[in-house]
Amino acid sequence: MRVPYIAANWKMHSVKNQTALPEQEYAEKIMDKIAELGHIAVEVSVFCPYTHLMLMEQMAEDQFNVGAQDMHPVDRGAYTGDISAELLQDIGINHVLLGHSERRHYHNETDAVVAKKVNQSIQNGLYCVVCIGESDTQNQAGKTHKVLQKQIKNAIAPHTPADRIVIAYEPIWAIGTGRVPSVKDITTTHTNLRTFIAKTYGTEFADSVRIIYGGSVNGTNACEILHLPNVDGVLVGGASLHSDDFCKIIGGVL
Ligand code: PGA
Repeated sequence: MRVPYIAANWKMHSVKNQTALPEQEYAEKIMDKIAELGHIAVEVSVFCPYTHLMLMEQMAEDQFNVGAQDMHPVDRGAYTGDISAELLQDIGINHVLLGHSERRHYHNETDAVVAKKVNQSIQNGLYCVVCIGESDTQNQAGKTHKVLQKQIKNAIAPHTPADRIVIAYEPIWAIGTGRVPSVKDITTTHTNLRTFIAKTYGTEFADSVRIIYGGSVNGTNACEILHLPNVDGVLVGGASLHSDDFCKIIGGVL
């Protein structure tokens, strides 16, 4: 069984609550929500800025995962400003988001760079969420499946353990825009992805790897998206900054 995976991507923001320690309130609300779901299994991850990792990891009390939004492909060296898997693990962080379209766009991360990071995270025993997604132009030209297949093949090596990786399908044109693909299109894309993954990596891997959707997910549309075939969770940007909205999204697994 694939446990639903709900992830928050704060990007370069901190959470927006009115209390003196908003991170604490945020973490407590998530933990209350998870407890409220009782026996319904759900895995929640919060990908926050490096500056908030230690605080959030303490607040999470092992009830949800805390992860970084990127990491360098080697363990150490003269790379001013960068953070490695080893450094993340030094502070108890075992989760990382890789290949987000904003990293690919603003930091020129190619598939080859993403592949190195994915490999490095797995070699170091981290759990990673690998983002893939097509541009508006590629979508309009009917190239979505080709683009996604290439990104997957380039980023994920054969024999990668399925429990170490989550694939996040995020159409670039849906990120932060309020434009969400139709439920039919999300279903078709996710189903095609799983079929492709089965052909490329074997059915055992394809049956267990989680494929989540991201791009303008909010408290209103999350429940429907979470119940689509072959959708195993959601990656949430803007709406994850408000604990009430994010908790509503987590509750969408019901
Ligand atoms: P969004 O961002 O939910 O604000 O569209 C999603 C993401 O970039 O991961």
